[in-house]
Amino acid sequence: MCGIIGLTGSSDALRILREGLETLEYRGYDSAGIAIVDRDGSGITRHRSAEQGHAIADLGDPSLVWPVSPGAGIGHTRWATHGAPTHDNAHPHADCTGAISVVHNGIIENHRELAAALVAEGHSMSSATDTEVVAHLIEREHLRGLAPADAVRSAVRELRGDFALCIVLADEPDLLVAARRTSPLIIGTGPSVGYVASDIAALLPMTRELFTLGDDEVAEVRPNEIRVTDLEGGLVELSPLRVTWDVRAAQKGGYDDFMTKEIHEQPSAVAETLLGRFADDGTTDFEELGLTRSQLAAFHRVVFLACGSSYHAALSASLATEHFARVPASAEVASEFRYRGAVIGPETLVVVVSQSGESVDTLHAMREAKLQGATTVAVTNVVGSVMAREADAVLYTRAGPEIGVASTKCHLAQIALLEAFALHLAIARGVIDAASLTRAGAALIETPRLITRCLDKIEEYFSVAQRYADVNDFYFLGRRIGYPIALEGALKLKELAYVRAEAYPAGEMKHGPIALIEPGAIVVVVATRTTLWEKVMANVEEMRARGATIIAVAEEGDDETESLVDAVLSVPATMEFCSPIIDVVPLQCFAYAIARARGNDPDRPRNLAKVVTVE
Ligand code: AGP
Repeated sequence: MCGIIGLTGSSDALRILREGLETLEYRGYDSAGIAIVDRDGSGITRHRSAEQGHAIADLGDPSLVWPVSPGAGIGHTRWATHGAPTHDNAHPHADCTGAISVVHNGIIENHRELAAALVAEGHSMSSATDTEVVAHLIEREHLRGLAPADAVRSAVRELRGDFALCIVLADEPDLLVAARRTSPLIIGTGPSVGYVASDIAALLPMTRELFTLGDDEVAEVRPNEIRVTDLEGGLVELSPLRVTWDVRAAQKGGYDDFMTKEIHEQPSAVAETLLGRFADDGTTDFEELGLTRSQLAAFHRVVFLACGSSYHAALSASLATEHFARVPASAEVASEFRYRGAVIGPETLVVVVSQSGESVDTLHAMREAKLQGATTVAVTNVVGSVMAREADAVLYTRAGPEIGVASTKCHLAQIALLEAFALHLAIARGVIDAASLTRAGAALIETPRLITRCLDKIEEYFSVAQRYADVNDFYFLGRRIGYPIALEGALKLKELAYVRAEAYPAGEMKHGPIALIEPGAIVVVVATRTTLWEKVMANVEEMRARGATIIAVAEEGDDETESLVDAVLSVPATMEFCSPIIDVVPLQCFAYAIARARGNDPDRPRNLAKVVTVE
């Protein structure tokens, strides 16, 4: 996820653009840049910085020369998806002549083929990003004599994927051109000033006259005029956006806290992470790994290493990998793996899973694995993180910055990405038939829609949670793919509500822990209709026979399960190995509601940090 801002009609362009980028920095901070048209006709002045954490500040360096008479300007703060967070990959990107500058949020899926065609026509690329092709496409159309908005419309028609774009042109100093498809972009107007930004927070300090831009619409923004058209050039009515937020609330998208915002961002986080992973014929695309199918097939074993919620995602991934790819797979807590003298080597594929890419336990475990000769793949949400730099290969979740200390959207994105990777391994090993692959790929692609259905039930989840807000002891049970879900549900309750919550494989209770069960014990069980549902319900009966109260994560309309328990957190049905992506959502909400009921701040749980950089 990246942050975009644009404006036209202000003599104070640099200050406003930089302040807008500071507001948008939560969306990504790998690098930043600003381009401003020089009204004196000398072209576009562009400065960029890839100094992580102070790239925006660098743009205010007094040594930088900016237009004395500024025209339209654009700014960008980057959360890298294609291309490392370097200066050359920082936005804005330019065409061959530097007379067009573009900022972009999203993913241009067909950027490679577009770039090849443009290079064949004589264009020269200066970055490894998908975005740069947009500047050259506009240049090509503009050189053919098309007016700026027509050139943008023509370029956009060639794009596949998601995008929010803002463009300035040297020969049109008052003009901002904006276009979007799926990625967010809003328009604002003030007295003789026009604005474009990724979200409301960046524009609220200047104006509340805001408008939304629809998919495949193009806006021409001038100081006193906004003109919106569809891709055929037909005029489109402006859609006003009524905003009741203050600025601080706007950064949270109007939600009470970042955790709630990020829970609601889960559908898009999973969708963006899966974007481009499945071709129309069902095959998978992990080209960035740089590992051929034969190299992948040569591994005798896959070991996942991680901590906390990432470990729970890794556990789900290990089960899916063994199931689909028919290769021995296991998940280990990184802090344990590091010191156990593991017997691994070149035949082992080690996958480290880390939202931050900085957790020191996982980092050291990865280094140990490398010392043993294993091939390492880092699955992380932060481009340019230490693990991303040191691993032999990297796979990025594209969840956008996760601010809340309790991992939510990134946890789901990790599972989705790793399950797609399991299918990729299965194809490489030639052990999955086309029908199974199509079925599994379709189920994964459908998960964002199912997460949304869970979010439609959030009040139902909160209502169930309220009934148990004073309970101080919970047991979370699940079998096979249900067990990592139980672990994650228990962790959420511990880290947010500070409540004791033990997770066990359901079949393990009778080997000791059931001695703890007495009337009043609260047991949360993952009871969706997997192949082990009957076994799980038998374990439920063992708990109920000793007076336990049962809360079940169960499928919508499963009256039989509902008749056997005391409360239900209902979820839509999905393929068994996709259930961790869906079934965790009610447990996130359950923990959040109890934390709020106890007066806790879910964004800043006590004793915790977002990134654990100490052993
Ligand atoms: C999860 O809600 C916690 N914030 C914590 O367990 C976290 O998942 C763990 O510290 C691993 O962090 P990482 O993914 O950045 O490596």
